[in-house]
Amino acid sequence: MTKANLNFAELPFSFIPTDYNIRYTFKDGVWDKGVLTQDQTLPMHISATCLHYGQQVFEGLKVYERPDGQAQVFRIDQNSKRMNRGADKILMQQVPEELFIEAVFRVVNANRKFIPPHDAGGAAMYVRPILLGTGVQLGVSPSTEYTFIVFVSPVGPYYKSGFAPVHLIVEEEVDRAAALGVGDIKVAGNYAAGMRATMGAKKKGFSEVLYLDSRHKKYLDESGSSNFFGVTGDNRYVTPSSPSILPSITNMSVQQIAKDKGLAVEPRLVAVEELADFVEAGCCGTAAVISPVGSVTHRDKKFEYCKGETVGPIVTDLYKTLSGIQFGVIEDPYGWTRIVPEGV
Ligand code: PLP
Ligand code: COI
Repeated sequence: MTKANLNFAELPFSFIPTDYNIRYTFKDGVWDKGVLTQDQTLPMHISATCLHYGQQVFEGLKVYERPDGQAQVFRIDQNSKRMNRGADKILMQQVPEELFIEAVFRVVNANRKFIPPHDAGGAAMYVRPILLGTGVQLGVSPSTEYTFIVFVSPVGPYYKSGFAPVHLIVEEEVDRAAALGVGDIKVAGNYAAGMRATMGAKKKGFSEVLYLDSRHKKYLDESGSSNFFGVTGDNRYVTPSSPSILPSITNMSVQQIAKDKGLAVEPRLVAVEELADFVEAGCCGTAAVISPVGSVTHRDKKFEYCKGETVGPIVTDLYKTLSGIQFGVIEDPYGWTRIVPEGV
């Protein structure tokens, strides 16, 4: 198939229009059959619950081109499950897993020419499913109507640097999520809450913030767009675990890979002082993949995890294995990948 006329190797992580998106409506207790559309706008009632009361959850996953030209998705079932956990938590209608997967496959097939070629420097097709409360309410109560949309966009690396060190700062003035709030689900409000922290960090020359737990301000949580992990000199993969962190599908996968490579894997409370114990560190997520962390600044201390631009051996190895599986270069021993069937 002829690819779209794009410079795939130089793509930013930003919205690039494609031909179609797909939409499903939940009304009168049932999901409809969905429709592919070229319309990139969404008319909705001014009193829809997503506009006033934040009834919105979304997902992010990628489609990768294998060396044989086939397209594959990574752990799509986990994205569906996480979106449904989010829907449950904020009293929205779930999207059945079969419908979620069908929606992704249909929209990918309608936009195949936008899937970056295998050798485009790690570029992939980003898939963004969104679930919105679109029924009318004025009082605070859940919608009875929902809209599920999936759109796609070819993307390059989340951080401009690609697989090169990013620099984080520990955020002490802003909380992304409350201890017993909704930090563990992918709701839009979490990103709104964190935006001023991230923009403030960027102004100071950092790539992102590293949040602390909001109750004690003592333990590491995660960054605004990915989970965080550190690697110790005695081969332990240490990653913060708390009820306000989004359970990253990438982190879950990297933990399995790390275990199988013989590292001790420790998902647990991680005190901010432990930043001093790491010899390497990374941010992990669908968009971030594994972005090596060059340094974390906490108050007047700067902890360094790369030698200049040189990324450490463990983070490099984890990155190569993860992206090798995602792009179909390394055989997937875990059953995480699934070919996108044509004709769906
Ligand atoms: N944490 C936050 C706040 C995120 O936005 C993301 C991205 O989805 C992640 C972590 C990583 O999750 P995943 O690996 O499932 O993409
Ligand atoms: C993802 O990694 O899929 C995300 O949703 C993070 C987002 C900030 C781009």
